[in-house]
Amino acid sequence: MIDLRSDTVTRPTVGMREAMFRAEVGDDVIDVDPTLDALQRRTAEMLGKQAAIFMPSGTMTNQIALRVHCKPGDEFLCDSDCHIYNYEQGAFAQLSGLVAKTLQGVQGVLTLDDLENSVRPVNEHMVQTRLLCLENTHNRGSGKLQPQDQVVRVCDWAHESGLQTHLDGARLFNASVATGLSLKELASPFDSVSVCFSKGLGAPLGSCLAGTHEFVSKARRARKLFGGGMRQVGVVASAAIYALDHHIERLAIDHEHARMLAQAVGEFDFLSVMGGEPETNILIFHVSRAWGTAQSFATELEKHGVRVMAFSPIAIRMVTHLDVSTDQIHRACEAIRRVAGKNRTV
Ligand SMILES: Cc1ncc(COP(=O)(O)O)c(C=O)c1O
Repeated sequence: MIDLRSDTVTRPTVGMREAMFRAEVGDDVIDVDPTLDALQRRTAEMLGKQAAIFMPSGTMTNQIALRVHCKPGDEFLCDSDCHIYNYEQGAFAQLSGLVAKTLQGVQGVLTLDDLENSVRPVNEHMVQTRLLCLENTHNRGSGKLQPQDQVVRVCDWAHESGLQTHLDGARLFNASVATGLSLKELASPFDSVSVCFSKGLGAPLGSCLAGTHEFVSKARRARKLFGGGMRQVGVVASAAIYALDHHIERLAIDHEHARMLAQAVGEFDFLSVMGGEPETNILIFHVSRAWGTAQSFATELEKHGVRVMAFSPIAIRMVTHLDVSTDQIHRACEAIRRVAGKNRTV
C-alpha cells in the first residue's frame, strides 16, 4: 500500500533506530538528559532563538506557546484554516481560557488588509488581543509557503500593535528547503516558534518550542503541568537529532513528488488542484460533484493500492514523505489516472 495520508506515517529508519539504541540518557525531569539537551540547544541555534524545549507533539508546543503568551480571557488572532484553531480540540479554550479570532486568508496567508481593525480596544467589555499566530507551511492551504516579505510585514504590524507573534512551523523544514531561506530567517519575525520532527523529518515523535530563556522556562513549567515532563527522553531525542543530520535536504524529493502527483491530477477537468502547482509536500485537490464525492474517490484509489485522506466532502489530501519512493509515486499517478478515468457521469 502506498500511504499518502500524511507525512506522519513514516517509520523510523534502521539508522534512526540504531541512534535511538545508542542514545546516552538521563532523567530530564530531575535535572538533564544529555541527548535531549543537545537537541534543544541545536534547535534553538538553528531557529536563532535563545532556547528551545522538547515536547511530545506539535499540539502541545502550540498550546503551551499560547498559554505562555496569553492569560485567561485573552484573545489571539489566526487564520480560519489553521491547525491551532481546527485540529487541537479548542485546547486554547479548554486548557488556558483563551478566545480565538479567526481571519479569512488565502491558503492560510494573511495580509495587512485582512488584519485591519482586528485588535480590540482596551475596554472592560472586551477580551484583550495579545497574540498573532501564523502557520508555515500551511497544512489546509495545500502546503502553501508563507511569503516571507508578507510575514515580516504582518509581524511588524503585530509588534507595533502590542501583540506577540507565534509560528506553527510544524513543516518549517519544508519551507526552508523550498524557499532556500534558513530556518533562522523564517523564524526571525516571531517571538516563539514550534517545529515538528515527526512530520517530513521522519522521527517517531516530538516537537520543539523555541523563544527567549524566560519564555522557555515558563513553557517548561506549563509542560510539567500538562503532564509532559519526560524522563530518559534521549531515546527519542536521538531520533530527532538523526533526522536533522540526514532528512532535511531530501525534503526536496518530497516536493518534486507532490508536483508529479499534481500533474496527474491536472490531466482531468473534474479534478482541480488547490492553488496550482504544490510548493511543498502537500497536495489538496477538489473532486467535482460530477465525478462523485471525495470519499468515493479515496475508496477507489485504495482499491488501486493508494491510501489518501478525504479532507472534506469535496477535497482530497495527499502528502509525500520519506517512506514513498519515486517508483511508488509513478504508480500512484497511474492509480489516479485509472480512478479518474472512470468518469461516473459518462
Ligand atoms: C500545521 C500543523 N501544526 C501542528 C500539528 C500538530 O502536530 P502533532 O500531531 O504532533 O500534535 C500538525 C499535525 O499534523 C500540523 O499539521
